[in-house]
Amino acid sequence: MRHTPLACVVLAAGRGTRMKSAYPKVLHRIAGRTMIGHVMATVQALDPDHTVVVIGPDMDAVAREVAPLPTAVQARQLGTADAVRAARESLAGFTGDVLVLYGDTPLVQSETLQALITARHHPSDPAVVVLGMRPNDPARYGRLVVSPRGELEKIIEYLDATPDERALTLCNAGLMVFDGMRLFDIIDRIGNDNAKGEYYLTDAVTIARASGYSSRMVEGSPTEVLGVNARVELAEIEHLMQTRLRRLAMDSGATLVDPSSVHLSHDTRLGRDVVVAPNVVFGPGVEVEDDVEIRSFCHLEHVRIGTGSTIGPFARLRPGADLAADVQVGNFVEIKNSRIESGSKINHLSYIGDAAIGAGTNIGAGTITCNYDGFAKHRTDIGSGVFVGSNTALVAPVTVGDQAIIGAGSVITNDVADNALAVGRARQRVLGGWAERFRDMKTGKRADST
Ligand code: UD1
Ligand code: MG
Repeated sequence: MRHTPLACVVLAAGRGTRMKSAYPKVLHRIAGRTMIGHVMATVQALDPDHTVVVIGPDMDAVAREVAPLPTAVQARQLGTADAVRAARESLAGFTGDVLVLYGDTPLVQSETLQALITARHHPSDPAVVVLGMRPNDPARYGRLVVSPRGELEKIIEYLDATPDERALTLCNAGLMVFDGMRLFDIIDRIGNDNAKGEYYLTDAVTIARASGYSSRMVEGSPTEVLGVNARVELAEIEHLMQTRLRRLAMDSGATLVDPSSVHLSHDTRLGRDVVVAPNVVFGPGVEVEDDVEIRSFCHLEHVRIGTGSTIGPFARLRPGADLAADVQVGNFVEIKNSRIESGSKINHLSYIGDAAIGAGTNIGAGTITCNYDGFAKHRTDIGSGVFVGSNTALVAPVTVGDQAIIGAGSVITNDVADNALAVGRARQRVLGGWAERFRDMKTGKRADST
């Protein structure tokens, strides 16, 4: 249990020019959720008392994404310390722990944040705790200088570092926890006399020391704090997130036959003994109950699938598809905004949109709900135990009663009563011998062409 109040400051004012995008960087998506959305979810897991997101002046879209949580605007991007300063008013009077993290590191986990907060309460009462890491390639990260006794002495930015300092492998991951009582005293003393001419948050360590306060370092995993600067990194982080989500799905009892070909969303929920064949895409908002089989090449988004159902191959379940137990959806079937009751079958080549289908109903191959008249969408209501013959067009709005039968090839424009047979197609004519006469005429065996 945490006794000290917690505030989180999420830095997201960076323009992200290397994304070459019209949208702020943190709004790009990983596993169906914006990067800032991931970070906010992780932060919320800590149940902080205050959260503030620091954004640039032209980032209303980011403010809307994090709402109702508040934002603070950093007028000009003068560095990470200046970004924290932008949160000062939001934190007025706050004396607990202040966690500072970045909006473009969606893989960070709340356990890591918790470890930093815990270290803030070390008996040495550090003014600041920094997350360190040892990446394979230390690249241009800030380097951590740690004393032989293990105390964090300073952080030196790559551009300002000597060759000896650049040779250090322990790097600054960017996440820090401050004692809120000392935070702004320290921030106010940070200058910008450095290679970039920026106010570096990393200088907090040296300034704390000069004031007689200690600093600590907690080492974390470099992959967790990978940031996105360009599209290639967006793809790399997507890959890492997918690996994590597939693991979670399998750990909770789903079989992914070929995990690397299954694309999950941050909120995909797969029940026990769900079997997912290769090449399936789960968009956001999919909930699958136990014992469901999803065959290859299905695409699902904002749908619920009940226990024991079988989906695909090649099915597309769009938002609002709500399937009860033991439903069968076969190949080349598209379902949107429709409730399908238990035991019903839609096995081949159908479009079911804005419909309700009762229990134990059989929808024949090629059945289409004609839900759109070019202006508005209309509903189709089909009862229980109905048999819809193949190649039926149901022109909505229309209702089909329980136990009704619809003849194949029908165009149904009027409501059908319970237990009725509806046939709506041209009556068949059979002209005996006509085919033979026709062929004879064409091949000249018969003279009379009149
Ligand atoms: C920073 C650290 C570096 C660390 C690295 C880890 C500093 C001075 N350096 O460097 O030691 O190794 O992160 O990734 O802190 N931001 C603002 N306003 C600003 C500047 C930045 O909101 O004026 C935000 C950015 O949107 C981003 C984060 O702060 O989310 C980090 O900024 P960035 O420019 O990426 O810092 P680095 O130079 O990578
Ligand atoms: Mg960076």
